Amino acid sequence: MSDRVGELVSKCLQARDMAYCPYSRFPVGAAILTAEGAIITGCNVENASYGLTVCAERTAIQRAVVEGYRQFTAIAVTCDIKDRFVGPCGACRQVLMEFGSDWIVYLTKPDGSYKETSLSELLPFAFSPADLEMN
Ligand code: THU
Repeated sequence: MSDRVGELVSKCLQARDMAYCPYSRFPVGAAILTAEGAIITGCNVENASYGLTVCAERTAIQRAVVEGYRQFTAIAVTCDIKDRFVGPCGACRQVLMEFGSDWIVYLTKPDGSYKETSLSELLPFAFSPADLEMN
């Protein structure tokens, strides 16, 4: 494991510990690596009006954009499930796609082991900003 991936994985695990999830009790953590080498984290933030919940991946993206980052190379995502690798929800896949299809995605278990995949693999034939360009 490269040091940078190790750091990304460890930051997503730390972010999971910050999850605000009193309703589902399903904490999720995410950590995004920017093209500049910065790491921005996110956790899920739930709401008594359940549909207003924001996933960890989207919290991280929103933080990153506010901090001035728009180019990303990887995201690590984790939850408490120990026996299999869990992927981001469909809505989060689409939100990641807004910033390109070249993301590496590290699906991370609580023990820090991870499976490397990519956004293109997780969201094939995606709708993207390029599809809005008129000819
Ligand atoms: N959740 C995420 O944070 N990311 C995902 O990709 C899937 C689901 C959160 C939303 C909710 O707080 C909890 O997990 C259960 O759905």
